[in-house]
Amino acid sequence: MTPSANSFAPTLETPAPSGAPPGKLLVFAGSTRQASFNRKLAHAAAQMAKNQGTEVTLLELGDLDIPLYNADLEAQGTPPDVIRLKQLMFEHSGWLICSPEYNGSYTALLKNTIDWASSGVKSDPVWQDGFKPFSGKVVGMLSASPGALGGLRSQSHLAPLLLNLHCWVAPRAFALGRAGDAFSPDGQLVNETHRSSVQAVIEQVLFAAARLNALAA
Ligand SMILES: Cc1cc2nc3c(=O)[nH]c(=O)nc-3n(C[C@H](O)[C@H](O)[C@H](O)COP(=O)(O)O)c2cc1C
Repeated sequence: MTPSANSFAPTLETPAPSGAPPGKLLVFAGSTRQASFNRKLAHAAAQMAKNQGTEVTLLELGDLDIPLYNADLEAQGTPPDVIRLKQLMFEHSGWLICSPEYNGSYTALLKNTIDWASSGVKSDPVWQDGFKPFSGKVVGMLSASPGALGGLRSQSHLAPLLLNLHCWVAPRAFALGRAGDAFSPDGQLVNETHRSSVQAVIEQVLFAAARLNALAA
């Protein structure tokens, strides 16, 4: 049976054909802290993906000038960096999000970033559809915390948010506990088990993103 004849095909939330080339990975962390464990994890994961030949964009949310979401502010014009963020998200078929855990959930930074990115721009025909940056993206969730659970509970809140925005959440995820002991001074994950857990998430995201893109082409 060809993909187009597959009865599941019409219901798939696939990326737009002009969206992202398969294999392009966007990686970002929900922290801007200088010594952030999640930024370290994002850097380590990005490097692992690059080492296997994947085209990776490592996005630092701290490089974006995005205020706290306020609809009155938005009515005066969507900030240019929000448009830049939407474009970056749209161009990448797979994402890795490294999510810190604050009070059993993901951070306000991550929520604010996603809220802006998901808000349609009424005056801009390209970005009127708020789902456009998210639809059909395959997202791998990683998290890191000094605690034993590694920020796992942040993932349990992040997953439904991503599904609500029509993303595909990879079943493989990884929570790095005791993150203060997990990295070498040059930012590598020292434990082989941790490296292979991250690798498994990367591989699953790339695997699924390539197949969804093939269906959309
Ligand atoms: C307000 C606040 C709440 C936190 N709540 C949790 C929590 O629920 N679970 C947890 O594992 N760590 C919690 N932490 C600790 C963070 O995991 C820790 O600060 C971590 O280093 C943040 O991620 P980052 O290193 O990427 O910035 C909390 C930290 C703050 C500031």
